[in-house]
Amino acid sequence: MDELDKIRAEALALVAQAASLEALEAARVATLGKKGSISGLMASLGKMSPEERKTAGAALNAVKDQVAEAIAAAKAGQEAKALEEKLARERVDVTLPVRPEASGRIHPISQVMDEMIAIFAQMGFEVAEGPDIEDDFHNFTALNIPAEHPARQMHDTFYFGEKADGTRHLLRTHTSPVQIRTMLANKPPIRIIAPGRTYRCDSDMTHTPMFHQIEGLVIDKTTHMGHLKGCLMEFVTTFFEVDEVPVRFRPSFFPFTEPSAEVDIGCSREGGELKIGKGSGWLEIGGSGMVHPNVLRACGLDPDEYQGFAFGMGVERMAMLKYGIPDLRTFFDSDLRWLKHYGFVPLDVPTLSGGLTR
Ligand code: DAH
Repeated sequence: MDELDKIRAEALALVAQAASLEALEAARVATLGKKGSISGLMASLGKMSPEERKTAGAALNAVKDQVAEAIAAAKAGQEAKALEEKLARERVDVTLPVRPEASGRIHPISQVMDEMIAIFAQMGFEVAEGPDIEDDFHNFTALNIPAEHPARQMHDTFYFGEKADGTRHLLRTHTSPVQIRTMLANKPPIRIIAPGRTYRCDSDMTHTPMFHQIEGLVIDKTTHMGHLKGCLMEFVTTFFEVDEVPVRFRPSFFPFTEPSAEVDIGCSREGGELKIGKGSGWLEIGGSGMVHPNVLRACGLDPDEYQGFAFGMGVERMAMLKYGIPDLRTFFDSDLRWLKHYGFVPLDVPTLSGGLTR
């Protein structure tokens, strides 16, 4: 009996000391396992007399049960502890504040381009694109500006180095070459706008070497100057979000249009504040006209069959007028304070149904 007490004490001590599930399993094997201390005693029962076996067996079974219970209790404790630890590790503090609102802003140029695209898209125009690096043919010749034409000097072109065949690539001086590319690649009817970067070697208060234009082109068999006027008048009132904006077409000259007109919109300058809409003043916003027969011919279209209009506007100028941005050069200063002030919230995409500016 002394021995049984000793084995029980040892077994319970082993269980009590087990600090992990693995240690507990080792304690179980050492006591109740096939070769464990208690199982060893069980085997010795066979050598006893029946009476001895009865009492010894009952006592042994009691010890066995006691140790098994201790192991089960310890195991449950260990498992609960492991779960607690896991929960503590994976704890999420739901009271933490949500992330602050994104602080990036959409540049006014991008915003205004998106607004212009939304308006013209509603009228059925598609967006067309062309390369910033152009050749002479698309930027000048096909637009009815031949080699010695004075308009070439006016454009202050950035040229690349001369190639073996004497030609030079250039940075496009306007978005009009996209007209040419579109007419060469597509059959009329054509109705496109081409927003993008343009370049001229010019830098002062009102000029930056890189700026943006948006070009428009409509070609079919019946489009006339009345359509051009209607289209731009509709555009201007929608863009400036003002009920009435007077539009004036002033006779002008562009090599690629005939007749040509500069487009002015009404404004007032009362009290030194510029307001778009009815007033005594006029502001120029772009050039336009009926596509010149030579341009159609350069693109393989018969001017006796096809006709249409084109227009071009400066995006910076439209942004300055609409949002009261006084200095052109600030557009490209990369000043975050300026962008925070004049920029737009990223997810407020301009649409005609949802509002251009919210
Ligand atoms: N390409 C002209 C410029 O950059 C702008 C322009 C004027 C485009 C008249 C046109 C147009 O399509 O018809 O100065």
